[in-house]
Amino acid sequence: MTAPTPRPGILDIIAYAPGKVAVRDGVTTYKLSSNESALGPSPKAVAAFEAAGPDLHIYPDGSARALREKLGDHNDIPADHIVCGAGSDELLQLICKAYLGPGDTALQTDHGFAVYHLAAMSCGATMLYAPEKDHKTDVDALLAAVEDSTKVVFVANPNNPTGTVVPASELQRLREGLREDILLVVDAAYSEYMDDPAYDDGRAMVQDAIASGADNVVMTRTFSKIYGLGGLRLGWAYAPAPIIDVMNRIRGPFNISSAAIVAGVAAVEDQDFVVQNREHNRQELARVGQRLGGLGFEIVPSTCNFLLVKMRGGDVEARSTEAKKLCAYLAERGVFVREVAEYRLPEFLRISIGSLEANDAMLAIVEEFVS
Ligand SMILES: Cc1ncc(COP(=O)(O)O)c(C=O)c1O
Repeated sequence: MTAPTPRPGILDIIAYAPGKVAVRDGVTTYKLSSNESALGPSPKAVAAFEAAGPDLHIYPDGSARALREKLGDHNDIPADHIVCGAGSDELLQLICKAYLGPGDTALQTDHGFAVYHLAAMSCGATMLYAPEKDHKTDVDALLAAVEDSTKVVFVANPNNPTGTVVPASELQRLREGLREDILLVVDAAYSEYMDDPAYDDGRAMVQDAIASGADNVVMTRTFSKIYGLGGLRLGWAYAPAPIIDVMNRIRGPFNISSAAIVAGVAAVEDQDFVVQNREHNRQELARVGQRLGGLGFEIVPSTCNFLLVKMRGGDVEARSTEAKKLCAYLAERGVFVREVAEYRLPEFLRISIGSLEANDAMLAIVEEFVS
């Protein structure tokens, strides 16, 4: 018997490994492996989600108008240049589905976010990688890596798992150096944690693209990080009209649930919560970084809600072994952090910034491990 076979390349994909967590009887667990909100979700978003219950038999507004208008007002951009998705993951998938196919290449940095290559491969395209400099996006390296077949370039700014950021001027230089027929995707999943005036989440570049009629930049955003709604699956993209049109043609007709629409609106309205979460992160990022640095770990300077932590001493092999051991040691004691060997960073662990309690628990176990 012959079985149905997936398209070439699909079976080469190694499925995304989500941040781990496991519950054990009698052990308090802390999940610091998926860069989720340290303060949970906005209580106002939760209330809106709960209030959506009685109407769940009604299909959602397929265009998510109320949410797009709220996002448009809040971000000072037109709602008809926004498309919402089930997490920014869905939007990244849609971009690949629309603009990449067999024989095409996409480009990202060496330690860029994993979903880009998975999404590109699922469309039959190949991912190219450009080296980073000090774990930062290197615009010259990206430009040098572009091939004739390159159709899409992905940059996460700030990037996951490195946590590093490049200024708006560098992204602008990248855009100017790319051929006009290449789509630049600026993934700003962690932008709400930024407070650097030299930073642009991608909005200015999209605005500029719209004004100049160059339809080749898209910014993606998420509700999964500072807004604390990772479980709800909600993200959005801002782009010139032709790109929005393309994404609307291929997305599911009701890709955002009615509960996600109202919770998303309430979350955007609850900016006090966002400010509180950002402030908590600012303080804890510094405190946790200092404590781990004091124990001899090298910390990649981060602007996000996580730290990329390099193991101590020895050679690459010894440090990689230590990363595995420390990850397992923490997990046995209820704290889950992320190994990043699949990002070609085997000597590192990525540790999310959690609540005070979670961070203290993690630090105490790391201290015990090194002593
Ligand atoms: C850089 C980056 N982009 C996108 C995402 C996906 O977010 P979402 O939950 O909106 O799919 C993540 C999640 O970790 C991320 O780190």
